[in-house]
Amino acid sequence: MRSGNICDNGQNNAVISHLFTMKLDLHPPTDALLDKLPGGCHDHSQYFKLPPGQEHYHLLAHLASQLHDSLIVDIGTFLGYSALALSGGSNKVLSLDIIDLKPDGLQLPDSVECKIGNMLEDDTLFPLTATLAVLDVNPHDGLKERTVVEQLIGRKWNGTLVCDDIHLNDGMRSFWDWAKQLPEVDALDVTNVGHCTGTGIIDFRSQHFHTDCFHTD
Ligand SMILES: C[S@@+](CC[C@H](N)C(=O)[O-])C[C@H]1O[C@@H](n2cnc3c(N)ncnc32)[C@H](O)[C@@H]1O
Repeated sequence: MRSGNICDNGQNNAVISHLFTMKLDLHPPTDALLDKLPGGCHDHSQYFKLPPGQEHYHLLAHLASQLHDSLIVDIGTFLGYSALALSGGSNKVLSLDIIDLKPDGLQLPDSVECKIGNMLEDDTLFPLTATLAVLDVNPHDGLKERTVVEQLIGRKWNGTLVCDDIHLNDGMRSFWDWAKQLPEVDALDVTNVGHCTGTGIIDFRSQHFHTDCFHTD
């Protein structure tokens, strides 16, 4: 049983906190996924391939690889890279954006459904059956992020949310400070295995990720 909030000081006993104090062997995006990256002016593949601690795509691919027959929500499709990292296996990915910016060359797998819509205005776009979600909407002001977390708490979602860019600016740092003190969730800074601009995991009291999902040397 877990109790209390996860703090960034590692002095708690929550499941996900324990996961990230271990030396992680994150599953990188597979070659099959890398083959789907677009070329030309939309070639951002160098970011996709950067290691954990610089970019978060390895972390996303790794978390998704621990799930089976699950729904994953990707909030902020942009060029489709996070959706691609989350795809593969038997999971389905629902990727939401307010505008379609995906490049022509990007081949998203059939397991990825892209939908245009604004979750801030219609929270029902986010199915509560989702196990894992990634939140990366810009401009990052910390206010949109807070609204999404409040919506998910209000709807009693019990999944796990990965938040990108939690250290990007004052607004995002303030959002993260707010999230850490929420009694309804556990919040853990995983920047060391995520994006150098800050990656946080907010666990809405789910039991989807367990220590035995992760590998140690
Ligand atoms: C930083 S990009 C996402 C990058 C993407 N997740 C990736 O890793 O490749 C941010 C995206 O959020 C989208 N966005 C902004 N506000 C949004 C909202 N309310 N709902 C969904 N998407 C939104 C923007 O249109 C933009 O495409």
